[in-house]
Amino acid sequence: MISDILREARRHEELAEQQIPALGRPSFHLSSRAGWMNDPNGFSFYRGEYHLFYQYYPYEAKWNSMHWGHAVSHDLLHWRYLPAALAPDTLADKDGCYSGSAVELPDGRQLLMYTGVVEGPRQPDGTRTEIQTQCLAVGDGVNYEKYDQNPVLTHADTPEGSSPYDFRDPKLWREADGTYRCVVGSRPADGSGQILYYSSPDGFHWRFESVLVENRGRYGLMWECPDFFELDGVHVLLTSPQDMLPSGFEYHNGNGTLALIGDFDPERGTFTPRHDQAVDYGIDFYATQTLLAPDGRRIMIAWMQNWDTLSIASLKAPWFGQMTLPRELSVRDGRLYQWPVRELDALRSGRVVYRDVTFEGALTLEGIRGRQVDVTITLRPGDEEHLYQKFAVWFCQNDAYHVAISFRPGESILKIDRKFSGSRRAIIHQRRCAVPKRNGEITFRMILDRYSVEVFVNQGEQTLSATMYTDLAADGFKFFATGKVTMDIEKYDLDLDPAGGPTEQEVRADGRDL
Ligand code: FRU
Repeated sequence: MISDILREARRHEELAEQQIPALGRPSFHLSSRAGWMNDPNGFSFYRGEYHLFYQYYPYEAKWNSMHWGHAVSHDLLHWRYLPAALAPDTLADKDGCYSGSAVELPDGRQLLMYTGVVEGPRQPDGTRTEIQTQCLAVGDGVNYEKYDQNPVLTHADTPEGSSPYDFRDPKLWREADGTYRCVVGSRPADGSGQILYYSSPDGFHWRFESVLVENRGRYGLMWECPDFFELDGVHVLLTSPQDMLPSGFEYHNGNGTLALIGDFDPERGTFTPRHDQAVDYGIDFYATQTLLAPDGRRIMIAWMQNWDTLSIASLKAPWFGQMTLPRELSVRDGRLYQWPVRELDALRSGRVVYRDVTFEGALTLEGIRGRQVDVTITLRPGDEEHLYQKFAVWFCQNDAYHVAISFRPGESILKIDRKFSGSRRAIIHQRRCAVPKRNGEITFRMILDRYSVEVFVNQGEQTLSATMYTDLAADGFKFFATGKVTMDIEKYDLDLDPAGGPTEQEVRADGRDL
């Protein structure tokens, strides 16, 4: 039985989707079926397919009463929309179904855990509040029924002093012994963030275990969208802190992302971080979520947008919000590395390679253009005596527009700049990232998909993600160097159905392309 509210959302999205031209949205990145999208939710592998749900308001391209949109894929790139999965239609979630996660039950059904929102009392200063609790829904991969005992975790299940208004975004998983755990974001009395840790024998009956880790005002304030997993022999906590203060080149996004890498004590249910870093150094990146793929890969996706720069797009657009590429994660020497899922290689065709191009001044290269491309650039000094001062690549480029990535080897700063991308808004359009110094040598891989670029620096040691809504006619590339630089460049077109099938590639022993 589906509610009238969900039925109306499903009817609306089906019609609204037809009004959006194919070229008006990204190709292999998931974007909102209609209206508004924020966080990825319920990212999982279920019944032979990847499932990705998302925070969704189908009726308009702005945030409002939250539903869950839904899509499935065999390769994390070809997405097929399914009908909206959840709507705010019960007493426990009448004002919104906020972020959450998914797991398969032993009987083959899929369990969704999400935050139910109900408007709370007005604060003395008149501000509105939301009571947030954790709720469940069970389904078959298309239709989901809300659990009749919702909510399953309330303010009563939080430590003394925690806010009833900031308790959200459960990420659950099943342990090897068949029991369940989840982590939830919460705001303790100090006004910053903490992650709470819960256990359950069956996925339905939950018990507070411990405070996994406290922010104590170090990294922003409230911590949203936590995720917690073991990877390469250490534990990783991903979270999206609100209201971050920049520190050096880290944490410049206001609403930022944080990876803490450290040790988990399962007896005490506590996590001791040893290393911290921003997850992404670009402009548009928030609310990460991971899944464990059947082949053992830990794959992360995020909302390729930031709450601070929403005005990049027009409210009149028929859709807003896209996800990042799914990225394979690894940890090396206490650092989180990211690399595009290897499934992307099958979308490549039309390989163009130049090696040892030494130049200064401006340069264009035959065959290097496009808005759906996979481009790897390697730089090294072109002159043994003098280090070059600056390199820049312009893309999404024509006479009117361009987006730039530039590198200054002296300071080892990589910068993205989209102020000439066609935006008419004076929001933040630049971000700089400090890259470990390697004598002017750097490699970066850029993935463009019409309205975004994701940059993977030096094997994914750092990434920069940004959206741009530049006219698709701007598809040129142009290179600039102050001082002599030597460049290798390799370009592929990326298409969901590559002409003539994917290009044959040489493969190194580690499985990555040369
Ligand atoms: C993060 C977030 C979550 C919340 C959701 C509401 O972007 O604020 O904490 O569940 O968005 O849409």
